[in-house]
Amino acid sequence: MSTPNFSLAGKVIVQSGGSGLLGRALVSGLAGCGATLVVASRDAAKLEPHAAAERAAGRRVYAETVDIVDETSVHALRDRVLAAHGRIDGFVFNAVSRPMRKMGDDLAAWRASMETNATGFFAITRAMADAIAEGGGGSVVNIASMQGMIGMNPWLYEGTTMGVPPDYFFHKGGMINLTRHLASHYGPQKARVNVVSPGGIYNPANPQAPAFLERYGKMTMLGRMAEASEVTGAVVFLLSDASTYITGTNLVVDGGYTAK
Ligand SMILES: NC(=O)c1ccc[n+]([C@@H]2O[C@H](COP(=O)([O-])OP(=O)(O)OC[C@H]3O[C@@H](n4cnc5c(N)ncnc54)[C@H](O)[C@@H]3O)[C@@H](O)[C@H]2O)c1
Repeated sequence: MSTPNFSLAGKVIVQSGGSGLLGRALVSGLAGCGATLVVASRDAAKLEPHAAAERAAGRRVYAETVDIVDETSVHALRDRVLAAHGRIDGFVFNAVSRPMRKMGDDLAAWRASMETNATGFFAITRAMADAIAEGGGGSVVNIASMQGMIGMNPWLYEGTTMGVPPDYFFHKGGMINLTRHLASHYGPQKARVNVVSPGGIYNPANPQAPAFLERYGKMTMLGRMAEASEVTGAVVFLLSDASTYITGTNLVVDGGYTAK
């Protein structure tokens, strides 16, 4: 019997979205597990300081620019990665845009959200999955949210300015089920497609309201929000050869919130 291989050494992985709370943790986590990581967002200059710090620590992280709503930009990124690194073994979709703030917003905000969170998501995930399949196989991991599995609990947000807009539930729910369809489509080409659904992530730089933190903790089995670094292990696992028979799965990382 062979030992499972959780390493990403030798794998070329593209990550879409890397400047945010989870995005930065993913960059360090994936590169720390040995990946050659190309991290892309609309402005590579914003990603470069973190990428440079990772390279200074001996890791292979390269910042690139992509606008996922522009298919020409998406294909150009794919072609640059293939030219520089020869192949693509994995893709992580971590981009999100939040043009909508509340239920009563103008439909223009809903449409803008559709453009990035639905059309852009599909454009880059299809392009990267095609490249992975053409290269002989690999793994796609989409970052959804437990909010794609449940409705909002207004009690959590009482007395705070916090809340989650309606488009988020639509896109994350759609992402979870589109992942199943993509897994079915790409399976015969040895490209696996899975989704990770994190629960709420604690933001140390801009902490959530104390009342929210206390109530949120009570909703989980572990009594607290996630640290961003606690989500990365699930993504590493799904990208690695330790998960070669896992596809179409939604791996929930929520401290037991949705199981309660
Ligand atoms: N923060 C949480 O509590 C939490 C919980 C569950 C799930 N998530 C999910 O985790 C993921 C990452 O969260 P985050 O807080 O790091 O997000 P973030 O908003 O801080 O970062 C999102 C990234 O998407 C990029 N992006 C947006 N529009 C783009 C476009 N058109 N083209 C290219 N890139 C674009 C941004 O540049 C940025 O790098 C999201 O999918 C989010 O829904 C977050």
